[in-house]
Amino acid sequence: MTIPEKYQIKETLNQNTYLVNGELKAWTGDTSEVYSTISSTKDYQPTLLGTIPTLGEPEALEALDSAVKAYGKGQGLWPTMKVADRISCMEKFVEQMKTKREEVVKLLMWEIGKNLPDSQKEFDRTVEYIYDTIEDYKKMDRDSAKFEKHGGVHAHIRRGPLGVVLCLGPYNYPLNETFALLIPALIMGNTAIFKPAKFGVLLLTPLLEAFQSSFPKGVVNIIYGRGRTVATPIMRDGRVDVLALIGNSKSANALQNEHPKSNRLRMVLGLEAKNPAIVLPDADLELAISECIAGTTSFNGQRCTALKVLYVHEDIIEKFNTLFSEKVDALKFGNPWEDGAKLTPLPEPDKPAYIQELIDDATSKGAKIINKKGGETTENYIFPAVLYPTSKEMRVYEEEQFGPVIPIVPFSDIEEPLDDMASSNYGQQVSLFGKDTKTLAPLIDTLVNLVCRVNLNSSCQRGPDVYPFTGRKDSAVATLSVHDALRSFSIRTFVASKDNEYNNEILKELLDSKASNFVSTDYIL
Ligand code: G3H
Repeated sequence: MTIPEKYQIKETLNQNTYLVNGELKAWTGDTSEVYSTISSTKDYQPTLLGTIPTLGEPEALEALDSAVKAYGKGQGLWPTMKVADRISCMEKFVEQMKTKREEVVKLLMWEIGKNLPDSQKEFDRTVEYIYDTIEDYKKMDRDSAKFEKHGGVHAHIRRGPLGVVLCLGPYNYPLNETFALLIPALIMGNTAIFKPAKFGVLLLTPLLEAFQSSFPKGVVNIIYGRGRTVATPIMRDGRVDVLALIGNSKSANALQNEHPKSNRLRMVLGLEAKNPAIVLPDADLELAISECIAGTTSFNGQRCTALKVLYVHEDIIEKFNTLFSEKVDALKFGNPWEDGAKLTPLPEPDKPAYIQELIDDATSKGAKIINKKGGETTENYIFPAVLYPTSKEMRVYEEEQFGPVIPIVPFSDIEEPLDDMASSNYGQQVSLFGKDTKTLAPLIDTLVNLVCRVNLNSSCQRGPDVYPFTGRKDSAVATLSVHDALRSFSIRTFVASKDNEYNNEILKELLDSKASNFVSTDYIL
């Protein structure tokens, strides 16, 4: 199938700078090639999209120095700036960002294989997230534009920055999830070093100038390279105050352990999950199936919120399996820009082989592939296999597959999925399908203590982004949402003064002269 003109890759994008100390610094050292697993030719071959710098430890530490300098021991321009001025910088950034929509969306499709509507949604959702963050921050600022008085002490309480943030995003939402960390971190007055994920790197190129021109120098630093080479020395140095990472607990733990003073390190982590669906016998089957299809297959299951195991009651399992398998087989596979393509190429070249391993392991232990197309493999894809019955000793039950394979576990007693969830390492969300409130009520009361979001008759998801996004156990540290992220990246700090004439006169003058950016009762509209 020919690629529409506007989506063709006509020339490679050679990213030969990195952003440090406000400068897009030219890089002439080693570079890494960026390939898409999508073919541009009839005979399959990966498409070369461009190159990125392979930076090393000196450049990583240069970026750290730059962020530390911009924070300036709390005296830097950015952390001491008026809230309204920081907001202006952010507004300038988002205005420039919006002009890059087409380029970013095209690269999202090529680099990570996300389909066109979802790539557009990722971009638009991120822009909206930035505007919502600005509004929430204004509200926070308005709420603190006052003094409190208790026990004879006046207090002017605000939220202040934490310092230097190392920000590492995931490949499945290289724009949205990364910015959902970076933007609140920045607006609260922190400075940041940001390293893109292993895929979805070039799509940042169109935004580099916007970062450079919107913020004071050193506030945002963008580096490229392997995590082990660049992130490890930054952590080991000890001057990072916050590790903000969406990824897996293994890398989060490894990085955390590099920090010489882990007590100082604040962590904001979105980690792995294995969200289950529980389908009760009285569930509206059609609804449950369509939600389970979306939950298991959207973006090929490469979402931390994806449904990664389906528990279906024995009374309805036969019907569920038949209808569910038919629906999976009816999903269209195609390149991201193809109309109606729900399944798209996998960005990781070795993913089909990994998924095949999970299938082989499960089938060797008694599971069957119950859909016709399950496991059909091409150069860049493996069609979702619906595996039934799956059980605990199978790898697909234990591992977060993060790809197109769907294990179904039958149950007769609700205690079975509940026990499994209680003993699992994950604790993000669950989807619960059923109707009878007498059954649902005690279940909800238990499930809210095992995970952090119970989705009633719908698949799991992060959005709307105003809602808290977090998890228990190995699934998260701290809470993200437009509102919560501002809190996760800041700390309460205040000026206290005893209520006496001497101090009150000083406070009054501080306010009248508007000399302090912190002590202020100005109201941002
Ligand atoms: O990868 C995990 C994302 O946070 C999921 O977000 O539910 O909007 O796809 P989503």
